[in-house]
Amino acid sequence: MAQVKIITELFEVEGSHRLDVYERHGGYQAIRKVLADYSPEAVIEEVKRSRLRGLGGAGFPTGLKWSFVPKQTTKPKYVVVNADEGEPGTFKDRYIMMNVPHNLLEGIMIAAYAIGAHTAFIYLRGEYVRPRRRLEQAIAEAYAKGYLGESIFGSGYRLDVWLHLGAGAYICGEETALLESLEGKKGWPRLKPPFPASVGAFGCPTIVNNVETLSYVPHIIRRGAEWFASLGTERSGGARILSISGHVQRPGIYEVSMDTTLREAIFDCAGGIREGRSLKAVIPGGSSSPVLRANEIDVPCCFDALAAAGSMAGSGAVIVMDDTTCMFDALRNIVHFYAHESCGQCTPCRVGTGWLRRIMDRIAEGRGMPGDVDNLYSIAADMLGRTICPLGDAAAMPVMSFVEKFRDEFEEHVRHGGCDLQAVRPVRAS
Ligand SMILES: Cc1cc2nc3c(=O)[nH]c(=O)nc-3n(C[C@H](O)[C@H](O)[C@H](O)COP(=O)(O)O)c2cc1C
Ligand code: SF4
Repeated sequence: MAQVKIITELFEVEGSHRLDVYERHGGYQAIRKVLADYSPEAVIEEVKRSRLRGLGGAGFPTGLKWSFVPKQTTKPKYVVVNADEGEPGTFKDRYIMMNVPHNLLEGIMIAAYAIGAHTAFIYLRGEYVRPRRRLEQAIAEAYAKGYLGESIFGSGYRLDVWLHLGAGAYICGEETALLESLEGKKGWPRLKPPFPASVGAFGCPTIVNNVETLSYVPHIIRRGAEWFASLGTERSGGARILSISGHVQRPGIYEVSMDTTLREAIFDCAGGIREGRSLKAVIPGGSSSPVLRANEIDVPCCFDALAAAGSMAGSGAVIVMDDTTCMFDALRNIVHFYAHESCGQCTPCRVGTGWLRRIMDRIAEGRGMPGDVDNLYSIAADMLGRTICPLGDAAAMPVMSFVEKFRDEFEEHVRHGGCDLQAVRPVRAS
């Protein structure tokens, strides 16, 4: 395992958000190199070889995604940055945009050049007021220097970057809902295919990438695909920034190589569990990912290893729960979130999330009935794979895993309308 400093290297440097400081530390060297020496295809090959995978949640190989954008088209192409950061427990993109907004801009420039886009949109979570100011300042600095605009770095290549604010809906982080919202419509996910690479923003070829994913690209160009790939595992290159929250000594963001285990992340990076307590459970990749028990955390936090362990690496949000946690309350909180955030477009998700919430509320009110736990499980199982977008699965998977792994606690709630742990630390769903 290794804690690494790649994107986070400049976080401690005074004024790291400013263009002059970023440049003094090697910033904007990668895009200069690309414009001078690389064909668009060569950039895509380099990113493919780095084994960089999407860090917004799905883990799709980045270079491969870029290669799907058609070369022969008369339509404009777009880069869209997913800066919506809505997955509960995830807060790493916020720190990237606050501390090194020029790192993100440089990643956008390289991605745009690679696919032949002349316009990029940053779709930013509306509540992120301070990151917004930092991004606006960074974009203005880049235009003033000629790093954005008609001829970036004097190369003759045109690139404009627009900042677009979201309005608080979690579903608008899903890439096709995001594109609808960007186009000024209601944020309803689209059926796929077609995928955004062929029919994206305004009906044109588009790549949608997460803030962190794009921020690794300049480092890959500067230090080489082999260097990045070697930090990670066989199929997940490099590193990622974990957002570690919950009952740890030092919650925060930690940049680690992809082979770092959850145990190392929790105990070595975040200082272990709160004083006098022991680990009970971990949600390893944001609230959508299936929960793991304390004895299941000796697993690398890369995409394949966590999938093999029955969970997901997702957005890298590690939510740690100690032995004071009531698992019924923890799940009820999550269930309320998804019931609130379902866009209502498809029946299994709209109706299923509502049923899950109502059953859990009834149990919490002391009106549980025999069979409730089985019902929770089967409703969730019937939602899986039957919806337009992955939010349906995201709502179902935590329910199934909590019930599978902590069934006794759920049965106790049905029988008694509560448990002893609630007296220790009540968690209330809104
Ligand atoms: C309900 C839902 C919410 C999502 N929210 C985000 C988000 O806030 N930020 C993000 O980068 N990706 C989010 N995603 C994943 C995106 O759909 C998409 O996979 C990602 O932006 C692709 O970029 P990447 O390949 O760089 O990860 C979400 C997906 C779903 C289903
Ligand atoms: S799965 Fe849920 S959030 Fe996704 S489109 Fe269907 S109703 Fe909307």
